[in-house]
Amino acid sequence: RHNFIIAIDGFSSCGKSTVAKALAKKLKFVFIDSGAMYRAVTLYFLREGIDMKDDKAIAEALENIHIDFIPNDDKTEIHLNDEDISDEIRQMYISDMVSEVSTIKAVRQAMVKQQQKLGRRRNIVMDGRDIGTTVFPDADMKIFMTADPQVRANRRYLELTNKGEQVTIDEIVKNLAHRDHIDSTREESPLRKAEDAIVLDNSYMSQEDQLTFVIDEYTKRR
Ligand code: C5P
Repeated sequence: RHNFIIAIDGFSSCGKSTVAKALAKKLKFVFIDSGAMYRAVTLYFLREGIDMKDDKAIAEALENIHIDFIPNDDKTEIHLNDEDISDEIRQMYISDMVSEVSTIKAVRQAMVKQQQKLGRRRNIVMDGRDIGTTVFPDADMKIFMTADPQVRANRRYLELTNKGEQVTIDEIVKNLAHRDHIDSTREESPLRKAEDAIVLDNSYMSQEDQLTFVIDEYTKRR
């Protein structure tokens, strides 16, 4: 393999995507938000009323789900069957269901396969929960991000209310705890730090400091 793969995993709302995006921009790598893919599947399941215990319906649905990342100016849109769903999947009703959908083995297998394909022959930064452990166990650099739960909830609250969504801090605290619990305890590739991952606790770090930290680590490994 000649391409360079950077895996960024960690708890919900730790700012993984923010660091991953900035790093990808700086290094001119492709950024891939694996969580957006699980959110897209969740949106599809909710729209189609897929029963999460119906293996046959799930397998069929997965056949019909096509996810694409489409660069557009400074952003990357995520498309589900050619529809731009970038904004829709950030809403709370998706966040409330995505971790349940992400426990389904067939869903994970399908997503991991697509993620591995996206990392073939390209330099990438991918963020998620199982990138360094399952998707790219041989990644060239692995970061495990964590932050104080209160700090995380405050950041997410600002992000959502800035977009005009009506949420309370309490709902967010509950959602983050709920997702972290399910993500860490599920049977199929649970969220955990890869042995060779570097820990980044960004509770009291600026975005600039975080970027400097990961660039330094990259320079050591390049
Ligand atoms: O990264 P984000 O918070 O958008 O991810 C949403 C959810 O998708 C996570 O809470 C987790 O349940 C699931 N996920 C996952 N594996 C990944 C990325 C996300 O299970 N690699």
